[in-house]
Amino acid sequence: MKFLSLSLTGAALVSGASLKEARPNGKTPRAPSCRFGLQWSQQDVLERTDDFIWDLLYWEGKFHQNDVAYNAENGMSYDGTQLDWETGERTRKHDFSAASKEALQIMLYAQAIAGSEEAARFLTPGNLSSAPAFAASIMETKLKSYQQFNQTYPGFGGYLPWIKTNEAQVTVADGWNDRVPGLDNGELVWAVYACIEALQRHFAPNFQKLATGWQEWLDYVASTAAEIFYIGKGRVCAVTAIGDQSLPVWHSNQTYDCESEFYLDDPYEGETFTYFLEFFGKMPKKDKHKLWEYKRAKLEKAEYNQGGIGPITVRKGYWFSSHEIWNQMELPYYDVDIVRRLFLNGERARTCNSVVTKSPGLYASVNNSTDPETDTIIGYISPAGIPSIASQKDQYHDVVTPYGAYPVVLFDKAVGLAWWRNMVIGKKMQNPYGSTESTQIDGKLVSALVTWDSKVTTVVALLGGVTDLVRDRMRSDGIYERFVEITKREHVRVFGHHLKGEDIDLCLPEEQVPDAGLEDFTSCEAQF
Ligand SMILES: *[C@@H]1O[C@H](CO)[C@@H](O)[C@H](O)[C@H]1NC(C)=O
Ligand SMILES: *[C@@H]1O[C@H](CO)[C@@H](O)[C@H](O)[C@H]1NC(C)=O
Ligand SMILES: *[C@@H]1O[C@H](CO)[C@@H](O)[C@H](O)[C@H]1NC(C)=O
Ligand SMILES: *[C@@H]1O[C@H](CO)[C@@H](O)[C@H](O)[C@H]1NC(C)=O
Ligand SMILES: *[C@@H]1O[C@H](CO)[C@@H](O)[C@H](O)[C@H]1NC(C)=O
Repeated sequence: MKFLSLSLTGAALVSGASLKEARPNGKTPRAPSCRFGLQWSQQDVLERTDDFIWDLLYWEGKFHQNDVAYNAENGMSYDGTQLDWETGERTRKHDFSAASKEALQIMLYAQAIAGSEEAARFLTPGNLSSAPAFAASIMETKLKSYQQFNQTYPGFGGYLPWIKTNEAQVTVADGWNDRVPGLDNGELVWAVYACIEALQRHFAPNFQKLATGWQEWLDYVASTAAEIFYIGKGRVCAVTAIGDQSLPVWHSNQTYDCESEFYLDDPYEGETFTYFLEFFGKMPKKDKHKLWEYKRAKLEKAEYNQGGIGPITVRKGYWFSSHEIWNQMELPYYDVDIVRRLFLNGERARTCNSVVTKSPGLYASVNNSTDPETDTIIGYISPAGIPSIASQKDQYHDVVTPYGAYPVVLFDKAVGLAWWRNMVIGKKMQNPYGSTESTQIDGKLVSALVTWDSKVTTVVALLGGVTDLVRDRMRSDGIYERFVEITKREHVRVFGHHLKGEDIDLCLPEEQVPDAGLEDFTSCEAQF
């Protein structure tokens, strides 16, 4: 569902009226109820998935407001906001952000600029055809912020640490002076890459100019990547310690060292940075080869076999948290047949494991519940996934999150959204900004919080990530064949061509989050 005339004009698109008529089933648009989840049975979601998506996008889009998800003044994302325990209205804004949240924001804008009707439903539901220009205008403001940040803190070489984004000028967040993480920035660079592709497809001069501006930023971070993150022998710093963030990268007194002996060598989200170094990093070819060799130990095979389901060959997870799939929203991994099949198998395991363990939802690293007495979030639950197919066995499984479903959505929207629905129908799991961060499986508490990570991952997955844009740009850059070659080489080494369990269906939810006496948020109650 793309705009037809978009790439030609940029601004003057097809009229709002004809877009409305183009909706699935020719239905007239309606503003869905805030608590729409309760109006849909699982069967409805499976049968009328596109209509369900239309409701979902409308409400998740309410998160995208100035002072909630982003700062209109500087174009930068905010981490998210906490919600009032009774009403669900926003309370404490998280006035900080990071490159990973920026990546989600930019991926969303890339698809809006490319003419995705779904991205427009999220961003500008009142006038779908205004989405590309709207997204581009925020990207223009954002670029100025990135340039300014680079001027103020040249030692970051254009990259972003955790940042404070509530003032016009972005500053380094507490605890991040002279430090920069690789993983989040790997996510960011490919989002920008996709967005440049989308911008360039518009012939209008303002889009072209913006594309050039972002390409300059990307070229610059490519030029500093190896200097800042690579320390030789195939090793990339997980976090780099900068000698002095106010000194330019190439200043004779500037230094870069890995903060610890913790390297970015995972086959998960961190791999986005490896591919960036491979294609754009300024380092010798033999070192590029070493990057892949160094990473090999962590790409491992595992077999899911539990509760009568299996064996299913999967890639071993760290926790097998859905978060680990993030890179697959950015790079066209699924163009390699064995890789696509392998990750589809992973979703067989993910969905069926929750049926086998009688869980009403899916697992991913997520914020724990709110303590209603003190109105604080109890903490962050990193260890959430599937222990039997993960390297980390010690896990916590009392909390599920709607974003656990986004990797399923990448393969099967209907089944993925059946899981998403199954979690949001829990008490308090919808609020005036769409879905809520997480719920305890016993229904006793939720995390009264909304964040890019827990919400927009699913939205971006519904848009197919940005793999289509990245693929096209890789082709024009002449690096696509090499991407396919490396991806195939690394996976065939470990998995060969044969996988077990490919005849097993994705599983649908069978349990529900019980009603344990929580009341829905009063500003998002069922009204039917
Ligand atoms: C919708 O947006 C387009 C593009 O910005 C604009 O030309 C058009 O006038 C808008 N339509 C309405 C009804 O506001
Ligand atoms: C970042 O700052 C450096 C100076 O430290 C400058 O040479 C470079 O062009 C700037 N890059 C961007 C993208 O603004
Ligand atoms: C580098 O640091 C030393 C010691 O602090 C100082 O004397 C020198 O002037 C600095 N070099 C430059 C080019 O700033
Ligand atoms: C959890 O909270 C942190 C800090 O506020 C935030 O960055 C993150 O996006 C939240 N959600 C998830 C799923 O990580
Ligand atoms: C999550 O919060 C609950 C309290 O609701 C607590 O018992 C549990 O230990 C927390 N889990 C983690 C992993 O922090």
